[in-house]
Amino acid sequence: MTAVAVLGASGAVGRVALDLLRSWGVGPLRAGARRPPDADGVEQVAVDARDPAALVRFCADARVVLNCAGPAVDLTDAVARAAAQAGADYVDAAGDDALYAAVAAVPAAVGRVAVVSAGMMPGLSGLLPRLLAVHLPDGERLTGHVGGRDRFTRTAAVDYVSADESFGWPAAALRDGQVVPGALRPCADVTVPTFPEPVTAQPYLGTETARIAAGLGLRQVDWYSVFAGERVLAALRSGTPPDADGKHRAGELLHRAAELDLFGQRPYQHLVVTLDGASGTRTAVVHSTGASDLTGTFAALTARAVLAGTVPAGVWHAAEVLDPVVTFTELAAAPSVLFASVVADVTAVDRYEEDVI
Ligand SMILES: NC(=O)c1ccc[n+]([C@@H]2O[C@H](COP(=O)([O-])OP(=O)(O)OC[C@H]3O[C@@H](n4cnc5c(N)ncnc54)[C@H](OP(=O)(O)O)[C@@H]3O)[C@@H](O)[C@H]2O)c1
Repeated sequence: MTAVAVLGASGAVGRVALDLLRSWGVGPLRAGARRPPDADGVEQVAVDARDPAALVRFCADARVVLNCAGPAVDLTDAVARAAAQAGADYVDAAGDDALYAAVAAVPAAVGRVAVVSAGMMPGLSGLLPRLLAVHLPDGERLTGHVGGRDRFTRTAAVDYVSADESFGWPAAALRDGQVVPGALRPCADVTVPTFPEPVTAQPYLGTETARIAAGLGLRQVDWYSVFAGERVLAALRSGTPPDADGKHRAGELLHRAAELDLFGQRPYQHLVVTLDGASGTRTAVVHSTGASDLTGTFAALTARAVLAGTVPAGVWHAAEVLDPVVTFTELAAAPSVLFASVVADVTAVDRYEEDVI
C-alpha cells in the first residue's frame, strides 16, 4: 500500500513536500503530475487532475493523498473527491473557507480524515497564535506580519489574486472580538522587527486569523501582509477581473512583478507574530527561504501527522487540528526554515543577514 500519494509533485510546493517525506523515511511514495518528476525510489504516475477516473486510479491504494497541484481555484474539490472515492485520507496545501466548504460537502467514507489549509498562509500562520497561547495563556492582543521578498509561481499567483472574502478582508482588524472593516491603513517604508529592509505593511485580516482568534478568546488583532518590493504591490493594487481569464492574466502579472522585485536578491519569507497580555509578551518568529518551501514543509508535516493517526476523523483546517508545539518543533528542523523560535523580546532577534545563511 502507498503511504502518501503526492499530486503536483513536480511543482514548487510538491517537490519540497516529496523530498521531505522521503528524507523522513515515509514510504512507499507515489508522485503525480501531468509530467511527473524523476525521483529515486518513488512511483511516478502521469495523471491529469481534470480526468476524474484517472484521479481515482492515482489515489487508489494510498493511505493519504497530498494535493499540491493547482491553481486551487480551478481544481477546487476534484482531488478530494477522488481521494474519498478511493478511501484515502486527504491533505490540501491550499485552503480557506470556500475550499473547506467544498471538501466538507464531498461524501466521504466513514472514519476518513480531510485537512485543508495546510500551507504557509493559511496554515502555519494560524498555528502560530495557538503556539503563542501555550506560552502566554492570558494573551489578549495579537499582531502579525507575514511576507518578504519572494517568488510567486504562476499557480500560486492565480490563487493569490483570486482570494475573496472566503479568505479575508483587506484593511480590516479585530476590535472587541468583532471584524471592523477599514480599521487599519497600509504603512509604507516601515521597519518591522527582524525584517532585513524597510517594507510596506498591508493590513489584511484572514478568515483563518479571525477564526483562531475567536477560538482563543482574543479581542484585538492587527494583521499585515508584508511586501519588500514595489512591483508586487503595484500588480496587486491593479485589481483582479472576476472572470477566469482575468484571474489568470492578473496572476501572470503578479508572477512577473515578483520576479522583477527579486532580481539579483535572495528570496525570503518571514512570519513575525506577537501576543500581548497582562503577564507579558511573546513573539513567534519564523524566517524561511520562501513561501513555496514553507508551504511544502507544512503540507508534508500535516500529511505525516495524518498518516500517524494523530488527526481525528472529519474535515479540518490544519492550523486548528495539529499540535502547535510538536509541529513547530518539527518545522524548525526543516531545511527551508532558517530560524524558528518563540521569544520574549523580538528586538533581540538578529536581523536576517545574507552572510549568516
Ligand atoms: N498556503 C500558502 O501559503 C501557499 C503558498 C504557495 C502555494 N500554495 C498553493 O500550493 C499549490 C501549488 O502551488 P505551486 O506554487 O507549487 O505550483 P506549481 O509550481 O505551478 O506546481 C503545480 C504542480 O501541479 C501540477 N499540476 C498542475 N495542473 C495539473 C493537472 N491538471 N493535473 C495534474 N497535475 C497538475 C504541475 O505539474 P504538471 O504541470 O506537469 O501537471 C505541478 O507539479 C497551489 O494550490 C497554491 O495556491 C499555497
